[in-house]
Amino acid sequence: MGFTLLSNQRALFDIPSDIAYFNCAYMSPLLRCAVAAGLRGMQAKSQPWSITPSDFFSDGERIRAAAAAVFQARGDDVALVPSASYGLAIAARNLALTAGQEILVLAEQFPSNIYVWRELAARSGASIHTVPRPTDNNWTDAVLERIGPQTAIAALPHCHWTDGTLVDLEAIGPILRNHGATLVADLTQSLGALPFDCRVIKPDFAVAACYKWLLGPYSTGVLYVAPQHQDGAALEHNWMGRAGAQNFTRLVDYQDKFQHGARRFDVGETANFALLPALASALEQILTWGVVNIQETLRLMTGDIAERARGLGLQVSDPAYRSGHFLGLRFPAGLPDGLATRLAKQHVYVSVRGDSVRVTPHLYNTTDDIDRLFKHLGKEI
Ligand SMILES: Cc1ncc(COP(=O)(O)O)c(C=O)c1O
Repeated sequence: MGFTLLSNQRALFDIPSDIAYFNCAYMSPLLRCAVAAGLRGMQAKSQPWSITPSDFFSDGERIRAAAAAVFQARGDDVALVPSASYGLAIAARNLALTAGQEILVLAEQFPSNIYVWRELAARSGASIHTVPRPTDNNWTDAVLERIGPQTAIAALPHCHWTDGTLVDLEAIGPILRNHGATLVADLTQSLGALPFDCRVIKPDFAVAACYKWLLGPYSTGVLYVAPQHQDGAALEHNWMGRAGAQNFTRLVDYQDKFQHGARRFDVGETANFALLPALASALEQILTWGVVNIQETLRLMTGDIAERARGLGLQVSDPAYRSGHFLGLRFPAGLPDGLATRLAKQHVYVSVRGDSVRVTPHLYNTTDDIDRLFKHLGKEI
């Protein structure tokens, strides 16, 4: 896939020069344009006579179109959800399981993509199989080895949230389909920074909370629903999900028919006037940059960081098994206590997840940020 390396984009964000923020996997900063759009939306509610019925739908459709371009799907395949867990609950509600079947997850997977499956397994007599963390970081082979006739659902990320190790969903998808199993993808730690193509991977459901790599506000998410599931059961029955909701004068002509595509799965009060304009402008900026360009630009940056980390004696996972936007650093003698807090005092922001220091940059990070990171990381060795 061809790509263009992107120049530094810090000017589009409100980040003081002495802040080295390597924590996009925790929460991305909002773009200046997203803040301005969100403020305009909030302001509009102070004068509600300016809000028209079509305003209830227009930003949602902008988001559907932009998210579809990120998912490589159609706008009709996208539902607007408030969180990853909400999207995963829709998937669980619409997938049938029988006793003895298995749901596949990864060791130390994010809890929003665990609890929902535990509940479904308990309800249906199915079981959960947790793929142990492979010593060589090759999750893909570890997952492939486990898929069999007992597999009903694989609930997987595209990369592991603790350290960015990759799960090759393109390789896993066809094997699942051969066994009649479904793929539910939690893309919260990848969508927007790691290319994902629904036409190739063919997930049944794929969800992403938008406040990380999609640069959106908190409490926003996008859910891809494959066409074969689009007549499924919604979690709630709100008026906007029904056919003809655009005509506010006829809402009590109750409708059995839903809006088309995945819209029936939208969260109630979909038209969040402050959050949706902010999310739409963030997604549109991501499309302007191009997801593959973001991934390759960040891969170069994490490659530099990995090399310097190795120079300090830290362990870094094999680049063949990690995504370009993510880096997990391990200390051979174990993680020093209080590391993240000490770094934060020096305006260096990373996360500690499990036994790894998670370093997750974006296009706002500069070489000065990287120097600052190593100046203070060096004192911890
Ligand atoms: C992999 C993954 N999924 C989901 C989430 C967020 O889940 P939710 O939107 O349910 O709060 C996170 C947050 O860190 C995450 O890392």
